[in-house]
Amino acid sequence: MTSVAVVGAHGRMGRLTCEIVEELDGFELHSRIGSHDALEQAAGADVLVDFTVPAVSPAVVDFALSSRMRVLVGTSGWSRDRIAKVEARVTADPELGIIFVPNFSIGSVLASSFAATAARFFDSIEIVEAHHAGKVDSPSGTAVRTAELIGAARAELGPVEAPHVDQRARGQQVSSVPVHSVRMAGVSARQTVYFGGTGERLTLDHEAFGEDAYAAGIRLALAAVVERTGVTIGLDQLIDLGTR
Ligand SMILES: NC(=O)c1ccc[n+]([C@@H]2O[C@H](COP(=O)([O-])OP(=O)(O)OC[C@H]3O[C@@H](n4cnc5c(N)ncnc54)[C@H](OP(=O)(O)O)[C@@H]3O)[C@@H](O)[C@H]2O)c1
Repeated sequence: MTSVAVVGAHGRMGRLTCEIVEELDGFELHSRIGSHDALEQAAGADVLVDFTVPAVSPAVVDFALSSRMRVLVGTSGWSRDRIAKVEARVTADPELGIIFVPNFSIGSVLASSFAATAARFFDSIEIVEAHHAGKVDSPSGTAVRTAELIGAARAELGPVEAPHVDQRARGQQVSSVPVHSVRMAGVSARQTVYFGGTGERLTLDHEAFGEDAYAAGIRLALAAVVERTGVTIGLDQLIDLGTR
């Protein structure tokens, strides 16, 4: 039996994770940890799942790695630079393992993968992401990951064409791609990637309407986190998208 401590257990995603762990064969819930609990209550669990806030997540990860637990991170804010700080520590120890998943939705992972495929064929690319008003961080982790994949796919082609980006309304550039964040009532989680070409435009649009969209990905990542050592970034590394 693999025991799982959930940090951020009283939040939207934390509650969903607790439900999944309780129903999943081979797993049991070790502890539910909220903002008023000591992290030490997670001691003794095999796996720690982090669904908190970007400002807290690094301390949670540090605690889990020091306690030699396997770690699954769903919290936003883990850019490539931030992950690099954890990477050296994890790769130096063959028994440590951590998986960062910017988005547990299968549809979103596919959309990001399609975006990386399209990135080589269009020089003009922009991302618009819209989330509920309660989301504290922007751009979203998914937008950052999508932009990084686009940047990596264009490594030999260079940055995207992004005119007038010195103006605030032109968004924040991530891997040269302008990202625009909308935070408002009436939206759950939506991302649109626009690719502008000569006389044509390609649009990749994904929308998750509620937490249910993340359940299949969380199950998949829980199974993987028990097995994998080292640093894994993205659900795309855990499923066969037919692109490798
Ligand atoms: N990877 C994905 O697919 C995905 C999907 C959706 C959301 N997210 C991200 O996951 C994170 C959580 O999202 P959410 O929608 O569940 O947010 P939420 O409902 O606001 O929940 C966040 C939780 O974090 C907890 N928290 C804050 N500080 C803490 C601390 N020091 N120790 C322990 N718990 C602490 C809060 O606990 P209390 O209630 O006890 O105060 C709260 O319940 C966000 O970063 C969000 O962007 C990721």
